[in-house]
Amino acid sequence: MNVTTLQQSFLLNNLNANPPNSAAATFYASLDQIHAVSPTISASIIKELQDQRSNLKMIASENYSSLATQAAIGNLLTDKYAEGYPQHRFYAGCDNVDAIEAEAASLAQELFGADYAYVQPHSGADANLVTFLAILSAQVQKPILAELNQEDPSKVSREDWSRVRAAVHNQRLLSLDYYSGGHLTHGYRHNISSQLFDVYTYTVDPITNLIDLDQLRTQLHEVRPLILLAGYSAYPHKLNFAKMRELADEVGTILMVDMAHFPELDLALVQHLA
Ligand SMILES: Cc1ncc(COP(=O)(O)O)c(C=O)c1O
Repeated sequence: MNVTTLQQSFLLNNLNANPPNSAAATFYASLDQIHAVSPTISASIIKELQDQRSNLKMIASENYSSLATQAAIGNLLTDKYAEGYPQHRFYAGCDNVDAIEAEAASLAQELFGADYAYVQPHSGADANLVTFLAILSAQVQKPILAELNQEDPSKVSREDWSRVRAAVHNQRLLSLDYYSGGHLTHGYRHNISSQLFDVYTYTVDPITNLIDLDQLRTQLHEVRPLILLAGYSAYPHKLNFAKMRELADEVGTILMVDMAHFPELDLALVQHLA
């Protein structure tokens, strides 16, 4: 079956002689445009639609976004470049992106009951990297700059900046081992995080397959990392975040949570309890 026939059959099957609704019109119109430029790509999108409608996706990092989300992402905003924060960009022409980013942050704040929301990273790996750098900046770089009576890194001498860089690169991370369910971005040797940090890992107990918090406490006291990373890709049990926070506080460690796989569950719970 060629692409055009595939597209038509989709259209006909879905419409069942009914007039197209705006969702169907959006989808088919976008396929028409894509098909005119690349039949290969439109054919793959159609096949992907077939796959997604006939198989259950069990990959935790995959998603079911709304058509509105897909349309909001796939438009002329793709062409925009907006470095910085809303109202604090490095150049002009970002007013519309500012409005969108501010709206996204405010929706995220409302959804999670958070005082602040940062919505720019668009993947878990980016988000982890941004969080690492934010913690390193606040906990390591800022105090050294304060000692130097300087807030602006661009005004620091080459020698002093070398000191900042050395200190930033000399920090420890304690995270769940990849083979116990942790993620590549949590310090696995093939990921940039292993170059950024001196990485130590905790594992699950080989008999119970659970994280042993007593053992974690011992390790925390031995390693004294800058960051204790909680969160996982494959650990089908609840984490005791309150206890982990308590353990981290004992040694002045920052507790960072990578909640890539469970924000929806947490939200569902919050909304259920509300
Ligand atoms: C715990 C965890 N963090 C981060 C990521 C990376 O997310 P992304 O693929 O969106 O960069 C994953 C991916 O599955 C993950 O499992």
